[in-house]
Amino acid sequence: MGVWRLARVLSRALSLKKSACGGALVTTSPSWVLSSGTTVLQGNTSRSYFSTGPPVTESTELVYRSHGDPSQVVQLDTRKLPELEAKSALVKMLAAPINPSDINMIQGTYAILPDLPAVGGNEGVGQVLEVGSQVQTVKVGDWVIPRDAGLGTWRTAAVFSEDDLVTVPSDISILSAATLGVNPCTAFRMLSDFECLMPGDTVIQNAANSGVGQAVIQIAAAKGVHTINVVRDRPDLQQLTDRLRAMGATYVITEEMLRKPEIKDIFKACPRPKLALNGVGGKSATELLRHLQTGGTMVTYGGMAKQPVTVPVSALIFKDVKVRGFWVTQWKRDNKQNEEALRFMLEELSTLIRAGKLSAPSCTEVEMKDFHKALDNAMKPYISSKQILVM
Ligand SMILES: NC(=O)c1ccc[n+]([C@@H]2O[C@H](COP(=O)([O-])OP(=O)(O)OC[C@H]3O[C@@H](n4cnc5c(N)ncnc54)[C@H](OP(=O)(O)O)[C@@H]3O)[C@@H](O)[C@H]2O)c1
Repeated sequence: MGVWRLARVLSRALSLKKSACGGALVTTSPSWVLSSGTTVLQGNTSRSYFSTGPPVTESTELVYRSHGDPSQVVQLDTRKLPELEAKSALVKMLAAPINPSDINMIQGTYAILPDLPAVGGNEGVGQVLEVGSQVQTVKVGDWVIPRDAGLGTWRTAAVFSEDDLVTVPSDISILSAATLGVNPCTAFRMLSDFECLMPGDTVIQNAANSGVGQAVIQIAAAKGVHTINVVRDRPDLQQLTDRLRAMGATYVITEEMLRKPEIKDIFKACPRPKLALNGVGGKSATELLRHLQTGGTMVTYGGMAKQPVTVPVSALIFKDVKVRGFWVTQWKRDNKQNEEALRFMLEELSTLIRAGKLSAPSCTEVEMKDFHKALDNAMKPYISSKQILVM
């Protein structure tokens, strides 16, 4: 067995211990398994961003100096880059999404807040242009993503400590790489760590058209797991339904349909959900809970409706449901010393991407100079398109 393969097997064995299935992540669906060497390029993948141009000495950045309405407090600034230190790397940013947590950080309402002034953005992909003399974990040409939240990714270039970076494969699309570290990781963990999901099982989720929701649909489909996907009603519902179905969604229903007795017809065709994923809160979360099977789990990861989660007493007494929460930032911090678990997850997700089974979220690419429009669109309802800054 070659060294690389041995490392991969060890890494898999180590991270499997953390899954919900008594130490085994369910990877029984053949479609979930690696087809090594298969490379499906998407979007603008084939562009090589390795710079041979003039030295990068300054960065254009989206900075906020106070908390408030993002379109009021975020400004475009240019700043000279600091000198490269022994353990740091010069990175040219390629693309970075605008996620709800970025907006909440700027508004000052998120659980963790950077010191001000701060560069916006917690997620994105960059390419290493230069490394300091003692850098060991990244090399020139690598694609890198932030290891933790708060790095400030909405900028054209930066000098980052190597400890703040994780390499990702550069044979996936830039849009997939830029959106890999938060939403697909969240979906992956929630589908792995709370219930032992087997092919044929069911997961129900709200905000199913969100970045997280789209990743849940695709990862679950690759595992042979049914998904019941709840979205808000809208004029272009059929179009959205078709799009989510094409990704692998088993059912797409509206919040209103979730409350109707006819929903029970679905459970004639597939089992009641073992797992409910709640990114909304309020009534929507309560409705998800009602449909869980006895002993099932609801994981709350987002609160888009800004309403508390109400748990019916009967769900606790008669169905013994488990009510849990998940925060991917905490998972990454808890697993800081367990590099294998992070690498295993990124490798599994990249394999799905290469196989065409996990696409970047439906998105709109925006130049940094158009950031006002991008920030506004990121906060509008029913847009169904992730705003991604391209540098
Ligand atoms: N806990 C974690 O580790 C973690 C990780 C990633 C994301 N998150 C959280 O997950 C949520 C989704 O993030 P994302 O990046 O996937 O979002 P996204 O792609 O920007 O999509 C936002 C979603 O929220 C829905 N939404 C917005 N306002 C709503 C409301 N008032 N009621 C119901 N639905 C509403 C939107 O539905 P419409 O299309 O109908 O507007 C859309 O489905 C956010 O709260 C984010 O902070 C948490």
